[in-house]
Amino acid sequence: MNSLRLLTPSRKIALLNLRCMSGVAANEPSQPNVSTSIPGPKSKALKEKMDPIHQTPSVRMFVDYEKSFGNYLVDADGNQLLDVYMQISSLPLGYNHPDLVKCASDPRLITSIVSRPALGSFPRHDFPDMIQKALISVAPKGLKSVQTMLCGTSANENALKTAFIYYQTKKRGGPPRPQDLESCMTQNPPGTPNLSVLSFNGAFHGRSLAMLSVTRSKPVHKVDIPALDWPIANYPRYMYPLEKHEAHNQKQDEQCLAEVRRLIETRKKEQRDVAAVIVEPIQSEGGDHHASPKFFKGLQSICKELGIVFIVDEVQTGGGPSGSFWAHDHWNLESPPDMVTFSKKMITGGYYFKEELRVNEPYRIYNTWMGDPSKLVVLEKALEVIKRDGLIQSTKKVGDNLLAGLRKLEDVYPQQISNSRGVGTFCAFDLRDAKTRDQLIDACLSEGLHIGGCGDASIRFRPALVFTQKHLDVTLDLLAKACKKIF
Ligand SMILES: Cc1ncc(COP(=O)(O)O)c(C=O)c1O
Ligand SMILES: *[C@@H]1O[C@H](CO)[C@@H](O)[C@H](O)[C@H]1NC(C)=O
Ligand SMILES: *[C@@H]1O[C@H](CO)[C@@H](O)[C@H](O)[C@H]1NC(C)=O
Repeated sequence: MNSLRLLTPSRKIALLNLRCMSGVAANEPSQPNVSTSIPGPKSKALKEKMDPIHQTPSVRMFVDYEKSFGNYLVDADGNQLLDVYMQISSLPLGYNHPDLVKCASDPRLITSIVSRPALGSFPRHDFPDMIQKALISVAPKGLKSVQTMLCGTSANENALKTAFIYYQTKKRGGPPRPQDLESCMTQNPPGTPNLSVLSFNGAFHGRSLAMLSVTRSKPVHKVDIPALDWPIANYPRYMYPLEKHEAHNQKQDEQCLAEVRRLIETRKKEQRDVAAVIVEPIQSEGGDHHASPKFFKGLQSICKELGIVFIVDEVQTGGGPSGSFWAHDHWNLESPPDMVTFSKKMITGGYYFKEELRVNEPYRIYNTWMGDPSKLVVLEKALEVIKRDGLIQSTKKVGDNLLAGLRKLEDVYPQQISNSRGVGTFCAFDLRDAKTRDQLIDACLSEGLHIGGCGDASIRFRPALVFTQKHLDVTLDLLAKACKKIF
């Protein structure tokens, strides 16, 4: 069975011509080519067409996904852009990777799409194998179980629910009693408990109703939406380069940890316990704020001491961009986090969890699809390629060079650029203000470099794992040109 047979002749040719050349498609351009403003006239017309029938305010440009290859995105106007943003950090192998295109004809993928299962009740007979091969093969050290979900937000939502269920089960010493089942229907205790989750200033965990109560990256996400009264601690704010600001940075760690402890202890006294802490290894949407292994070790140790579930949100950091498969690998924890959530480069959403967090009653953690097996077929192949081509190691190496390149640029424009930081290719730097940042993003775009912003005034790099030295050379060249234009 060959799914390529289903394509129209011209598209069939484009995809059949995909040849593999050192891991990425031979069709990948070697440089950008921009011939219109971006968005161009075709993108603008498409937006007008879509506007009456769908939301469009966040649409930046329309993309021709059949013509995009490797690290290069081609937009509806034919502009070729070197893409170091990669669908908000979510394509592990760039566009139309030949191995993934080939895997589209895998009968498991075709039947998963055409006959999508309700995984919670009727999983495929080969689903256990798929989980083993795709997700368990890269499970964070010490975590042996996983639950698939739909996206990062749904992974986090269900991780928090799992933590609450665990906390109450432990407190009661067993499953819900009749009085719990009755009182929860009127949203009263004991069935509806007074629990909360501690999160951090600058955090981003998703935009659902509950996730907005642990998200604090930008007002635009939260405004007009009611929020739960949950505790908020400060996340460290470091000065760079790290080696020159050790005293300040260490004090940040200490102050933030002391605040976490104080907030949790106060809530406990008030009989409204904190059940879990959720934290990003690097606050990404909030502006690429890093914290030290020491901070995270301290955070885990507070959680252990006070009996609280420690949840690490690796939705943006997981899957290799930090130069390690999981960003929390860099911390050298003695025991694993209680839960690790993921999505984006992992192709499916979901979370890993410790055995004691398993929920035993049916339908408490549930929805119709609970994930999508077709994503596991693609993930299995992507992981094979990542391993075969040594993409985590190459990401680490090219990431070191990226950071060195940013520091050089910082030396050229010390008044404009600051705080170059990063691990692997997960790098960022700051501009003076949001306006300058947005100007630089636009200038990069007109040079043919598609790059992302985050936080108040930061620029972030989120290339695919197939981003190599030759792509970095072009990136730094275009970035320098864009800086020259606006500074
Ligand atoms: C750290 C983090 N958590 C959660 C999410 C939400 O994921 P999704 O957009 O897939 O729902 C994101 C998305 O950017 C994220 O960066
Ligand atoms: C760039 O794109 C334009 C318009 O699509 C095309 O005419 C031109 O040949 C391209 N240049 C290169 C170097 O590919
Ligand atoms: C819930 O928290 C409030 C304080 O906000 C407290 O007065 C009340 O006793 C708590 N209820 C339970 C069941 O713990």
